[in-house]
Amino acid sequence: MGAGIVEVFARSGVDVVAVEISDAALDLGRVNLDRSTDRAVAKGRLDPADRDALLGRVHFAVGLDALHAVDLVVEAVPERLEVKRQLFAELDRICRPEAILATNTSSLSVTEIAVATGRPDRVVGVHFFNPAPVMKLVEVIRTVVTSAEVVADVEGLCARLGKVGVTVADRAGFIANALLFGYLNQAVAMLEAGYATREDVDLAMRLGAGLPMGPFALLDLIGLDTAYQILDTMYRRGGRNRRHAPVPLLRQMVTAGLLGRKTGRGFYTYERPGSPAVVADDATPNPVAGSATDGVPPVTRIGIVGSDARATGLATACTEAGHEVVTVAAEPTALTPLADVDLVIEAVAGEPSDRAALLAALAEVCKPEAVLVTTATPVIDLAMATGRPADVVGLALHEPTRAGAFAEIVRTVHSSARAVAAVRALCAALGRSVVVCGDRAGLVVDALLVGYLNDAVRMLEANYASVDDIDHAMKLGCGYPTGPFELLDTIGLDVALTVARELHREQREPGLAPAPLLEHLVIAGHLGRRTGRGFREH
Ligand SMILES: NC(=O)c1ccc[n+]([C@@H]2O[C@H](COP(=O)([O-])OP(=O)(O)OC[C@H]3O[C@@H](n4cnc5c(N)ncnc54)[C@H](O)[C@@H]3O)[C@@H](O)[C@H]2O)c1
Repeated sequence: MGAGIVEVFARSGVDVVAVEISDAALDLGRVNLDRSTDRAVAKGRLDPADRDALLGRVHFAVGLDALHAVDLVVEAVPERLEVKRQLFAELDRICRPEAILATNTSSLSVTEIAVATGRPDRVVGVHFFNPAPVMKLVEVIRTVVTSAEVVADVEGLCARLGKVGVTVADRAGFIANALLFGYLNQAVAMLEAGYATREDVDLAMRLGAGLPMGPFALLDLIGLDTAYQILDTMYRRGGRNRRHAPVPLLRQMVTAGLLGRKTGRGFYTYERPGSPAVVADDATPNPVAGSATDGVPPVTRIGIVGSDARATGLATACTEAGHEVVTVAAEPTALTPLADVDLVIEAVAGEPSDRAALLAALAEVCKPEAVLVTTATPVIDLAMATGRPADVVGLALHEPTRAGAFAEIVRTVHSSARAVAAVRALCAALGRSVVVCGDRAGLVVDALLVGYLNDAVRMLEANYASVDDIDHAMKLGCGYPTGPFELLDTIGLDVALTVARELHREQREPGLAPAPLLEHLVIAGHLGRRTGRGFREH
């Protein structure tokens, strides 16, 4: 982060003194700066002459003495309170009395850092995002002792750096990390439980949720040691919310020195330390095994039950993919034309209480080897109603995102490999990337997404930040295509609440309990865009 922050200042014409703890660490920082600016030149984002001027503005030094005449210090040393407090006490002795001392901490108390100095009113949090030259957001953290003039100065500086500053009070994780890290930690728990692979979770969040990176690629970029420290601090400072209690796997990886890109290995393996290029390792799925078609039943005739836009869209897609399609309404008497389909998809809108009856009727009508696909969960309850649960598979089709079209295939404890392979083949024909996962509430995408959305509602409820600030923070700090409240209003607060309740019921995790504000808005009929009002008026 230090090298990235140096680049941000030098790019904006500010003279920078870049300080490290040793010659070796300083060299590494210099290499990081060179690589990043060379990449910017190669991509045409920076003129070679401007790069040279940028580098000319950076003075490199070992030790804090070089900082005696600066106006502002931005600290980016490891995320440990005692390390930072000691450093600030030293900075306080070395720097001019009027200098502003800023910390880039992600989760530690800026107040506790400030009171280690004799000028707590001139200490502020200035939280950049990774990679600092790219991400537009800076969270400015004002403690109860920070002077208004210092906050105004730093806000002005952010604007001069081309950043968008959001000023918040001193709370663990501020806005973006408080919302990001619960989700990242939950993803690690999924991996640790063997629910899904690193590749599947990353694919699901990129394609299914439209995020710029999957959680494991992001954790490797952040650094697992830093991520662990941030979670640990947020857990202790943030009311011991178990969503922030670091998953044991993280601790093990840190102890083993698997810190992410910076050490060449974290959740993924990289070409060399510091490289963004992922290389294959023991956990990389074998593409040949993954595409095996042996034993896949031929799927030519497809039945679709349902008559809304989703069902007709699916019918069109299947027809375009070369299948013969039979579409019927969701009434027991209308199902007869499905007698000889190879696979039937129940794509009935809403939550009909008689869905199990529908599945049972399909099992009666369809030929014995036909695969029965439901778009509802839990799949196993419906599968048991058919009397032939081995043939039943779940399917969650996601709205295509910029990254592509995606589906989750649900394999219950009864689903046969043959039935799963048939649905997989159908998705391939429809041009959809897939992950196959177990029959858990929210599957991969909604479980991770709704936990995060619920956290955002809790943050709003606690009056820590506004709807706009929270949406801004996630878009500009994490590169999300939409902020949590924009997303909630789009998918529908009732839909999110249903998933939140299912997640909570299944996992009994207090941190996943639906936010009361979400419940109240749903009771009030403020369901989002659909009703003209949700978190915003539409
Ligand atoms: N990694 C991220 O994505 C990210 C994002 C935003 C903020 N942050 C915050 O930035 C800070 C640094 O995180 P990081 O991931 O870059 O950590 P890091 O461990 O990769 O880098 C820390 C650097 O500080 C140097 N250092 C240690 N003690 C020092 C001292 N006394 N004087 C000068 N340099 C010293 C180390 O040599 C090392 O190069 C943390 O507070 C972290 O929470 C990190």
